[in-house]
Amino acid sequence: LFSAIASLAMEQILAKQKFESENIVLRNQLDRDLRIATMVGESPVMKRLYNLVSKVARSDASVLITGENGTGKELVARAIHDLSDRKNKPFIAQYVGNIPGTILESELFGYKKGAFTGATSDRIGLFEAVDGGTLFLDEIADLPYELQAKLLRVLQNREFKRLGENIIRKADVRILAATNQDLNKLIKEGKFREDLYYRLNVVRINVPPLRERKSDIPLLVEHFLHNIDPNLRISSQALKKLMDYHWPGNVRQLENIIKRASILASDSTIEADDIQFDDLDTQPLASLLPKNLEDEASLEEIKNYIIRKRLERFNGNKTRAAKSLNISLRALQLKAKELGL
Ligand SMILES: Nc1ncnc2c1ncn2[C@@H]1O[C@H](COP(=O)(O)OP(=O)(O)OP(=O)(O)O)[C@@H](O)[C@H]1O
Ligand SMILES: [Mg+2]
Repeated sequence: LFSAIASLAMEQILAKQKFESENIVLRNQLDRDLRIATMVGESPVMKRLYNLVSKVARSDASVLITGENGTGKELVARAIHDLSDRKNKPFIAQYVGNIPGTILESELFGYKKGAFTGATSDRIGLFEAVDGGTLFLDEIADLPYELQAKLLRVLQNREFKRLGENIIRKADVRILAATNQDLNKLIKEGKFREDLYYRLNVVRINVPPLRERKSDIPLLVEHFLHNIDPNLRISSQALKKLMDYHWPGNVRQLENIIKRASILASDSTIEADDIQFDDLDTQPLASLLPKNLEDEASLEEIKNYIIRKRLERFNGNKTRAAKSLNISLRALQLKAKELGL
């Protein structure tokens, strides 16, 4: 009996050791295959990004997320929140550019009834609404200068007041901020406070542009196609066309082009012709127009010019031209008739 117990104990010890060593293997594998559920892409630069995101998520530091338009900055911010201890508390994204200072201030900090005309009742701000969670301040470079000082104070003291009230409230909020602008340049120009920059930039995450991770394009395409319709496919020529492009509008532009292609495709396979890099997406309209048109043409003439160009591009296919112009076929037919096309 004793030896039976001893061997059972031994077995358990061995089992435990095996479990632990398997666990280590598993953990190493997880590190190597690190993925973020909401983000697609396995290129080395993206793996590095996931790694950084998962490390940063464990801390409570402020993070400045930089990157060109459409690279996925907001997705990164959400991932940091979802992987953090704050995940069961709110995540709120607030666009802070081009909002008049006082409106934004009351949005962020709330106000007391009577604080200003129109403040007919007390209202909580985002710092209270997000309590215990994460506040994502998008387009931080455009935060009005006087609000930059107020935000700095919250970050320093972890305290704030509602507008028109003298009660000091605790802010248990993690701040993430994003920008596609060069903050160092704005600091030199006196448009962004250096002290706020250092508070926000405790950790910096730069989301690489799509042209620097083209190997992710096939996976991204598959992801977007699947979201539209799981039966959709893409031809190898069409995929090649996507791989050869320079992607000024990054992942958002890819998403839009795939959506458009899925509308243009005549069956469940997207062909190269269905991929339209609408330069109107990324270039100012004026730069596409002949000089005299830009400077002198009436709106009507500009419209007619675009319609002609679009019909040309689709080899006179009115259905496709109408779709790409986002007007009805009937409207396009009328216009084409008027122009004698
Ligand atoms: N790695 C990715 N995997 C899947 N979808 C992505 C990825 N990156 C971006 N997207 C998608 O592309 C679009 C743009 O992403 P997001 O809004 O996060 O970019 P952004 O950097 O905040 O852009 P902007 O500077 O224009 O605000 C979103 O629809 C997002 O879901
Ligand atoms: Mg964004």
